[in-house]
Amino acid sequence: MPHEQTLDASLIAEIASKVPKLSRDDRETLIACLMARMKRHGQRLFYALYPDENETWQAPANKHFNPGSTIYARALYPKHLEFFRAGAKYRERCFMAANKVSKTLGGGGYETACHLTGLYPPWWEGRRFENPTRVWTAGKTNETTRDIIQATLLGEVAHRGQRKVMSGTGVVPGALLGDPSWKQGVQDLVDTIKVRHVSGGWSTLGLKSYQQGRGSFEGTSQHGIWLDEEPPLDVYGECLIRTATTDGIIMLTFTPLEGMSEVVMGFLPAEMRPQADS
Ligand SMILES: Nc1ncnc2c1ncn2[C@@H]1O[C@H](COP(=O)(O)OP(=O)(O)O)[C@@H](O)[C@H]1O
Ligand SMILES: [Mg+2]
Repeated sequence: MPHEQTLDASLIAEIASKVPKLSRDDRETLIACLMARMKRHGQRLFYALYPDENETWQAPANKHFNPGSTIYARALYPKHLEFFRAGAKYRERCFMAANKVSKTLGGGGYETACHLTGLYPPWWEGRRFENPTRVWTAGKTNETTRDIIQATLLGEVAHRGQRKVMSGTGVVPGALLGDPSWKQGVQDLVDTIKVRHVSGGWSTLGLKSYQQGRGSFEGTSQHGIWLDEEPPLDVYGECLIRTATTDGIIMLTFTPLEGMSEVVMGFLPAEMRPQADS
């Protein structure tokens, strides 16, 4: 779009020519406005994903994109769209695929953000919850949960005055995040965080790890559980129970690095399951 670029460039040149004439106070206000704008844009990854056409990420760098990175058009992700659509029909879904194909960000992360916020995009054909949700997400260890899932959903740990908060530069829109509570005994791992839902209420996201054992998956009912790595069978069973009374959903996203576990096998059609020698 050369026209738009020329316009932008001439506008920038015009502003730049006026900046030296501004008072110091006005220059400081201008810089504060630009920084606030950059921060806002950095917290809007959710709205940038799955565009109609390829787009360029124009906000500050985050875990997944640098300024200038291409965010690919939705049509280039037919498997992801199929995964979402299947949610309207099936309670349990498994996205087993290669590394780096956007299972975490564009698969489980994106759908989790949809259910927490209620902000389903116009093209959404998957499962919908009309009211605020309770969602859990979990990875294998506390550290991978923090460094992969938490960073993808919520961004980085930041400080607001005395308080430790999340930067909101992940796929859950930063402007919708409440204050987190923190896990004991694990540096910088969120325990739960509220997310503003489109209805005006608050959803609740809880972070867990398989390392904490099956027992830590007992408790309240959940509308959604996203497991970003293959869970042990006992944890998976507990997740089924947690989502039974809400007619909730379970999303599994992972690359099968450890052969065929019992949980994976349950998702495979019979002819694809390895046969035991008799
Ligand atoms: N929609 C997208 N458009 C462009 N690049 C993407 C998109 N989603 C993800 N990526 C890139 O792919 C990388 C891998 O994504 P990730 O979700 O971590 O993959 P996986 O979980 O499958 O290993 C991201 O860090 C990002 O750079
Ligand atoms: Mg991943």
